[in-house]
Amino acid sequence: MRSFTTLVLGAGGVGKSALTVRFITNKFLDGYDPTIEEVYQKIVPIAGELSSLEIIDTAGAEQFTTLNELYIKSADGFILVFSLSQQSTIREIDMIRQQIYRIKGAAATTPHHHSAAAPGQYRKIPLVVVGTKSDLVNEREVSRETVARLGAAWGVPCYETSAKTDRGVREVFDDIVRQMAAR
Ligand code: GTP
Ligand code: MG
Repeated sequence: MRSFTTLVLGAGGVGKSALTVRFITNKFLDGYDPTIEEVYQKIVPIAGELSSLEIIDTAGAEQFTTLNELYIKSADGFILVFSLSQQSTIREIDMIRQQIYRIKGAAATTPHHHSAAAPGQYRKIPLVVVGTKSDLVNEREVSRETVARLGAAWGVPCYETSAKTDRGVREVFDDIVRQMAAR
């Protein structure tokens, strides 16, 4: 069976676990219990073939460690999560995004010709950006327009989700699976 691994990354408390648990169990994770690391597995059809989708729900680290670098190297796809209720969490995923492109992009180039990947190669890394907690309308700090601009600037699909109402959750995982299968 083919196997794909996706990393869920982003600042602490943005809703990485709630998003993942909603996808896996269709339940809303109400309380807040900071994650160390959780690994989930789901059998899904990928490119018409039953495949194993492994989802690694990570700790909301402020900075990357060597361990994170190894994770990034071995992952096939990336779900970058920020909170629509907390504008500052976008900065975190921007840094993570650049880290991913540096680590994955550099590995894909011929060392003799380039020291870094060409921008065109960046887009081939399966990646989606997710703004969470869309149900918290009164706490919203990030507008729809900002999300759309982010997607255009970074050249990646962006989704607004709510783990509470289940809005957009399926679409996020469908998209990342599609991108990983297309590689
Ligand atoms: P770390 O594991 O510490 O990095 O946090 P996390 O990113 O996994 O956040 P987590 O999923 O644990 O969610 C943090 C808090 O936000 C919890 O109390 C969740 O119930 C809440 N939360 C997460 N997603 C949503 C959402 O879509 N809507 C609402 N209303 N609350 C949410
Ligand atoms: Mg968590």
